[in-house]
Amino acid sequence: MEVRVFDDVDELGRFAAEHVIAAISAQPDAVIGLATGSSPLSLYAAWAELARERGLDQSAVRGFALDEYAGIDPEHPESYHSVITKTVVEPVGLEPSRVAVPSAEATEEAAAAYEEAITAAGGVDVQILGIGRNGHLGFNEPGSPLDSRTRRVSLTAETIADNARFFDSAADVPTEAITQGLGTIMDARKLVIVAVGEAKAAAVAAAIEGPVTPDVPASLAQHHENVVYAIDRAAASQLS
Ligand code: F6R
Repeated sequence: MEVRVFDDVDELGRFAAEHVIAAISAQPDAVIGLATGSSPLSLYAAWAELARERGLDQSAVRGFALDEYAGIDPEHPESYHSVITKTVVEPVGLEPSRVAVPSAEATEEAAAAYEEAITAAGGVDVQILGIGRNGHLGFNEPGSPLDSRTRRVSLTAETIADNARFFDSAADVPTEAITQGLGTIMDARKLVIVAVGEAKAAAVAAAIEGPVTPDVPASLAQHHENVVYAIDRAAASQLS
């Protein structure tokens, strides 16, 4: 595991983006796993900028989002369909038809089809991840089975409160989601985990230095052989 600490979030973003760019440069049809949320925004901005500067051909790149709210209208501005389009597909210049987001219908069939689509694409080369304050990965909340696959899940009160900032009120945040499982995430060939801010410090320390436990889903990344943490100094503040 490589842990890199940055004072500057733009520099963090460039470092993390280089891992994505390297995968695409090596293999034009690379499969990139995409997270939503605030943490990867500097990565996405740097990816867009570096790809443009270097004239990278991204027409064959595939993308798979980690998760989506259950029951949300895909056209809702805060659906992950919309967020992935706005923050990744458009600025980076990916081909929209090659980027998938789990279906908000969140049925068993949709979950199985998502797993099959990832497998058919050859698996994820680089999975971009943020961490929840409670150590979640994707919407795999504490207690999620370490071998879980894409499925419908309930969100914890903490995650609903954290995500309320994107909605008019906490009551508007969907209470369920569809998420890639921890087993799905661990199948990716590389994990790039981004964490920014003091609020993530305890989760980052538990994930990197604590025991591997379903109580801290991100701790499972300790068992991955190719994982890079790109974190800022505040998020690193509880590391020993
Ligand atoms: C996003 C996701 C979540 C976030 C996590 C951190 O697709 O699955 O696990 O990565 O909640 O969110 P931010 O980055 O907004 O702090």
